[in-house]
Amino acid sequence: MRYGYFDDEHREYVIEHPDTPLPWINYLGSQDYFGLISNTAGGYSFYKDPRLRRLIRYRYNNSPLDSSGRFIYLREDSPSTNPSVPLFWSPSWQPTRFPLDEYECRHGMGYTTIRSRLAGIEASTRYFVPLGENLEIWELTLSNLRDEPVQLSVFSAVEFNLWDAMDDATNFQRNLSIGEVEVVDGIIYHKTEYRERRNHFAYLACSEPVVGFDTQREAFLGLYRGWDSPSAVEAGQLTGSIAHGWQPIGAQQVKIQLNAGEKKKVIIILGYHENPVDDKFDPPDSQTINKRSVLPIIRKYVQPEEVENAFQSLRLYWDELLSIFQVTTPNKHTNRMVNIWNAYQVMITFNLSRSASYFESGIGRGMGFRDTNQDLLGFMHLLPKRARERILDLAATQLPNGGAYHQYQPLTKRGNNDVGSNFNDDPLWLILSVAAYLKETGDWDILDEALPYDNQPGTEEPLYGHLQRSIQYTLDRLGQHELPLIGRADWNDCLNLNCFSDSPGQSFQTTANKEGKVAESVFIAGLFVLAAKEMMAIADHLGKAGHAEAYSKAVQEMVAAIWSAGWDGEWFRRAYDDFARALGSKENDEGKIFIEPQGICVMAGLGVEDGRAVQALNSVDKHLATTHGIVLQQPAFSKYYLHLGEISSYPPGYKENAGIFCHTNPWIMIAESMVGRGDKAFDYYLRINPSAREEISDVHKCEPYVYAQMIAGKDAPTYGEAKNSWLTGTAAWNYIAITQWILGIRPTYDGLQVAPVIPSTWDGFEAVRNYRGVRYEIRVKRKGQGNAVKLDVDGKPVRGTVIPQPADGVKKSRVVAWLGQ
Ligand code: GLC
Ligand code: GLC
Repeated sequence: MRYGYFDDEHREYVIEHPDTPLPWINYLGSQDYFGLISNTAGGYSFYKDPRLRRLIRYRYNNSPLDSSGRFIYLREDSPSTNPSVPLFWSPSWQPTRFPLDEYECRHGMGYTTIRSRLAGIEASTRYFVPLGENLEIWELTLSNLRDEPVQLSVFSAVEFNLWDAMDDATNFQRNLSIGEVEVVDGIIYHKTEYRERRNHFAYLACSEPVVGFDTQREAFLGLYRGWDSPSAVEAGQLTGSIAHGWQPIGAQQVKIQLNAGEKKKVIIILGYHENPVDDKFDPPDSQTINKRSVLPIIRKYVQPEEVENAFQSLRLYWDELLSIFQVTTPNKHTNRMVNIWNAYQVMITFNLSRSASYFESGIGRGMGFRDTNQDLLGFMHLLPKRARERILDLAATQLPNGGAYHQYQPLTKRGNNDVGSNFNDDPLWLILSVAAYLKETGDWDILDEALPYDNQPGTEEPLYGHLQRSIQYTLDRLGQHELPLIGRADWNDCLNLNCFSDSPGQSFQTTANKEGKVAESVFIAGLFVLAAKEMMAIADHLGKAGHAEAYSKAVQEMVAAIWSAGWDGEWFRRAYDDFARALGSKENDEGKIFIEPQGICVMAGLGVEDGRAVQALNSVDKHLATTHGIVLQQPAFSKYYLHLGEISSYPPGYKENAGIFCHTNPWIMIAESMVGRGDKAFDYYLRINPSAREEISDVHKCEPYVYAQMIAGKDAPTYGEAKNSWLTGTAAWNYIAITQWILGIRPTYDGLQVAPVIPSTWDGFEAVRNYRGVRYEIRVKRKGQGNAVKLDVDGKPVRGTVIPQPADGVKKSRVVAWLGQ
């Protein structure tokens, strides 16, 4: 069953039922101010950091689901005599959940519009964040479709978070006494802690004259009532409460008179503002917020023309971003994911890593080191300048021994020790993101950027040196099979071979009670080969022949170690545990074969020439592939294994325990492309493509327009059900798999390569791609079977599959790729 449909022309997903199987969300904001918004206007907003600067509250494990967020209520001032019209209702359905005559939510690129109709009153609210501003706009358009005038009260409401979301949810003995607000000219300012160390506040403003307000939650709701039935809305008059402690909120009431057929706009603004530390108060010796710099912003955005201009700029911004790469293939799911939604999701994961979604609370994790480096892989072509900045931020958190903090806080850009370091794969991902940046931009100067270690001034070294240390970190930590030691975990956070965690609540990752000198990872070995090959190419380019040679030798040795201890006969093994026993081997009863080493080792080139790559991939097909995607391992762990850790803590079929962990599936797609099997690669691509799963939304449950981290595997009672949508490495890796490997349009150090490995039934496809200042119009035409490519560039045949650097001044180029023979 479907709950909506794709409107590809407007780049929107249109939801027709408010009660989707889970809240289906979207993101607002492009740079510093962000919001999550569901199809019924649930969600929350924050400035830069969802933990440390949260504007409004959200309760994750609440019931009913998704009942906190952005509230609007409509109430007829002269109540209708018609019993089917309620006294008041929510035009976004939540929180009153009164049945609407019509409902439609359109999630677009950085905005969401929710339109509904009840008893002849149409309400359409467009939510978005203007580019470059730290505020969100709720642009409500009311239309009276009746043939008589109507007098309405419109109520808007938010529940303020006292900034630090973790503290807000736990430290009640303090927090219930510190809440403070100001209300001036109908604008509500939330200023908890402004009197002391904060220089920021939030505000709620409205374009229409405010006839009533509330700032104390219980005055608005009434004691023991919920957001679905606020007593002040029921009474039709807000109470003018001023919050002193307890639960500060912002609620405003305006009155709108609409003649028959008339339309009116009400603009509501929720914003964040900072004042200079020494100019916080006005007058200076008072405790009153200085509003001189915020008022002009508020005055600007309560004007409909300014709002429309800001919306058009946002549209243009996305038009330009998405036009960098567009494709027309014979498959609609491919077209819409590549052209719209997958690129969009890549942007969202770049912005938020794994911090704030409907499954990630925004308080648990900062930006992951390995996650962010992988998110960057799909992002390079969109905004290379921001990618560059992010790479430098990441490298500056690297530790002097080459290792990495597992995560860092976006507000401070400092690594944090919440989950420690020594995830031994972490530093290698930095090499992959830098390599991708170089291939996209040709900006080799980035390697000369002097960056500190652990943000300590005085420790600066060029980025190239950081990459060298990443490699050295692995080489300094080899085990008895000459394979890399795994540390706390590798890519699979839940493979905790050095933490024998036996008490509830103990961390699986950081309760290290083994020395970490035995357990080895074949996955890191494969990743090392991939990264060290990039280092060979980089050193070569820089003319550092000695380095290139050393990396080449390191590659050969690691490859030899993989073949001698990491190959199981029909597939790559996964690891060696703390007792030096193989895992991911036919010797095991459970966990005989894992997906990760098959993907990464083939991507690193192992066995591609001699048939062993194909053998490993055939094993994946035979043991791991399902109709809903490829599961992580088989057989699933049926019980908890102390020596394996968190992976075996999940019930079979979920998450890392044999779930379809979507992040890993594109590795297999890439590997299949590398061995030339386009049909297989594309088949796997479609199995997890969210658009291709739209028809089974009642099974899949998550949004059909974005990837989820996981789909329950065949061992799970809820096989096929997705969880953890939005913030997942699946976004970047699928984007890479389809665009760079299956469609084969791939940046290299020397230029743009065109080497498709598409399904045999496709006649070809078309693409446009901006690359290093040139707009390439690419047509791939099949003339026979196979993947051989002959390129014509601007009408002339060229050798190889890389488009030669065009002459200076050339801005456009036509490329025809003849495929097959
Ligand atoms: C999550 C983590 C990621 C990890 C993966 C597998 O997606 O964010 O870092 O690689 O799980 O455990
Ligand atoms: C990854 C896993 C998750 C685990 C976490 C620990 O994100 O997906 O299952 O709890 O790592 O850091």
